[in-house]
Amino acid sequence: MSVQSAIRRKTAPDIRARKRGEPIVMLTSYHAHTAALVDRHCDVILVGDSLGNVMHGFETTVPVTLEMMILQGAAVMRGSKQALVVVDMPFGSYEASREQAFNSAVRIMKETQCGAVKLEGGVRMAETIAFLSGRGIPVMGHIGLTPQSINTLGSFRAQGRNEVDWGPIEDDAKAVADAGAFSVVVEAVAEPLARKITETIAIPTIGIGASAACDGQVLVLEDMLGLSPRTPKFVRRYGNLGPAMEAAIESYAADVRSRAFPGPEHVYDMKKS
Ligand code: KIV
Repeated sequence: MSVQSAIRRKTAPDIRARKRGEPIVMLTSYHAHTAALVDRHCDVILVGDSLGNVMHGFETTVPVTLEMMILQGAAVMRGSKQALVVVDMPFGSYEASREQAFNSAVRIMKETQCGAVKLEGGVRMAETIAFLSGRGIPVMGHIGLTPQSINTLGSFRAQGRNEVDWGPIEDDAKAVADAGAFSVVVEAVAEPLARKITETIAIPTIGIGASAACDGQVLVLEDMLGLSPRTPKFVRRYGNLGPAMEAAIESYAADVRSRAFPGPEHVYDMKKS
């Protein structure tokens, strides 16, 4: 007997169908508990390789491994019910060949049961995107600023600030859409260019630092909650949880030091938070 869940999870085709429709709401999550919160309000949860910066304290996303992405992707799937979960393919897991990309994506999809993968690159990754999409793996593209290329880019700079630089970014957007991606993240791209791309290509654009002209938006959860020590300038903060968490930790430490800590009868009396 098959067990059917009462709640239907969103799929890549559902998100694809939102082009020029209701804006797509996407946030990152790397854990079951934050995924449960994000799931109630978002269409897509991205298990981003930004977990390398946020969870592991790396300067860049380059050191992130497939194993890290699979571990956190599976946690996010356990914590969520209705959002489409997209897991980032980390640096080094897909660039060598379309077969390498297929094998890595299959591991991600089998071991996490997520609904799609994301990879960085436009024209240079088009053949790989077509290979994966044609074999049952929904792909979200990622163009503009591609953080995994930091060592060739040199810095995390906004892209397409001058009109003369627009051509290659427009080509990337078109290549990703034509290759069969179901949507594309457009990162740190100037507003007029993001608007032009959004109006031109047939798949939804999801902006991060790329203006409200896109078909949807994504932010790193910890950045918008005020939990990250450094955030890009474009990030709007919707909370300032860092100081609130520190105050709670300080109160706990004070209770322990003054021996005001509750006894076992309280500890084992579980309450729902
Ligand atoms: O890794 C990530 O969180 C991302 C977003 C910034 C789009 O790729």
